[in-house]
Amino acid sequence: MSDTGTHDAQSCIVVIFGASGDLTRRKLAPALYNLARERLLPDRTVLIGYGRTEMTDQQFRSRLHQAVAEFSHTQPLDEAVWDSLAGRVFYQRGAYDEAAGYRGLQRRLRELDGQLGTGGNRIFYMSIPPSVVLPVLHSLRDAGALTRRRRCDEAGQGCLRVVFEKPFGRDLESARRLNAEIDGLLEECQVFRMDHYLGKETVQNISVLRFANSIFEHVWRSESVRYVRVTVAETIGVEDRGGYFDQTGILRDILQNHVLQLLTLVTMEPPASLDADAIRDEKAKVLRCLRRLEGEEVRRSVVRGQYDGGVVDGREVPAYRDEPGVEPDSLTETFVALRTYIDNWRWAGVPIYLCAGKRLAERLTEVAVEFKGVPRVLFGAMEGVELRANRLVLRIQPDEGVSLRFVSKVPGLKMELRNVEMDFPYGSAFPAASPEAYERLLLDVMAGRSALFARRDEVELAWEFATTILEQWEKEPPPDFPNYKPGTWGPISSEAFFAEDTVYDSVVGPHPTA
Ligand code: BG6
Repeated sequence: MSDTGTHDAQSCIVVIFGASGDLTRRKLAPALYNLARERLLPDRTVLIGYGRTEMTDQQFRSRLHQAVAEFSHTQPLDEAVWDSLAGRVFYQRGAYDEAAGYRGLQRRLRELDGQLGTGGNRIFYMSIPPSVVLPVLHSLRDAGALTRRRRCDEAGQGCLRVVFEKPFGRDLESARRLNAEIDGLLEECQVFRMDHYLGKETVQNISVLRFANSIFEHVWRSESVRYVRVTVAETIGVEDRGGYFDQTGILRDILQNHVLQLLTLVTMEPPASLDADAIRDEKAKVLRCLRRLEGEEVRRSVVRGQYDGGVVDGREVPAYRDEPGVEPDSLTETFVALRTYIDNWRWAGVPIYLCAGKRLAERLTEVAVEFKGVPRVLFGAMEGVELRANRLVLRIQPDEGVSLRFVSKVPGLKMELRNVEMDFPYGSAFPAASPEAYERLLLDVMAGRSALFARRDEVELAWEFATTILEQWEKEPPPDFPNYKPGTWGPISSEAFFAEDTVYDSVVGPHPTA
């Protein structure tokens, strides 16, 4: 869901810091190309890559051409579209810590404004390590390229927006510090904190499902719901990001941002409008009410794990500790599952399960809302009947769709019942391919729409939740890492974790089909 704002995407110069990195190749360049292909990219949009590597404009263009040909979700590459875009792609060499580079950039920005009519509109995209973000912002300010603008067109200067990739801080304190520094340089409406999950079609559909239909809202509360579960499971390991991941862990990498963002959308109150702040106010309220897990509670309600080596689908995969860039005695977690509560009127007493992990049995991101069971007076005592409660599953990826489990009579002369699934698969209902999350999000930045970006308070509240767990973990190193086999659903702790809910398997596993 996003505010449908009155302003549309404007022609601007997008400057990517970290232009030689993976994100530019895999996501940003293909997204800009596909927007151009769909004729959604404003005509005069210009892209400048800024980086330390010596490169000509032409070399940078060839590099992006290759990247788009390899990673675009639409194939084959439309050379005419690419050529028209490539004429507006430039490269500016400069170190991150040298004023001269930024002065050169500022000169070039002005020249291009004059030549190509970009009207002073800028998007600075920070695809760089967190440690250099602030120095880059300060240098841009010192070069006169970064100014605080309350409104997009303030004093006819054009708009200036800055996109921050995650990780946004590494705990509550660092996120607060970063936000305070940014607050000293920019207005909040100029700040776009990226969480690419919010750009996924199926994530935007959560609010549509809830608020554009009348049947869900009445049962979307503790009186009817038994638990809510959000799962982000991946089959891949850390791939070539071992160095980054080993300093991060899954709680910071996925749970603090993607999982909590999904949870807020599923559990927030209906916003008063589609305005960005109206939505983000409601999301922030959920995070405020999310019960913090501290001390002893962390041991009771949080499971962490690290994958071992093993054979998956006939292929030997390394243990996490043997991955490139990972310390051989690393204590970093690659799996987390936890139970908490949202202490507000709507959700009081409903267990909230959150789970994220790498090298699990299946790639699957989903939200499951399991409803309370029926009294067993009518059908409970029937032989062979194992009635399961209704469950609504929102499949975010990869097999996008919505399904509802319910009980049905098996046709025949006997009274036999069975759990069945009513399924709505996106793919067959809407054959057109969905846009990539980065396409949606880049377009929203160009239009100044911020509903699909995390606001300052959301990020800090999410860190507040994650930090108490991280602090407790630091006090108690895991005794048993590695503790799960690749290709499984993670560690099953010896104390039968979550046993009181008797749903451990389904808490972290896939949605059973019956
Ligand atoms: C990123 C994480 O934010 O999201 C990665 O840093 C993770 O570790 C990725 O693999 C998952 O994104 P998606 O869109 O493939 O589900």
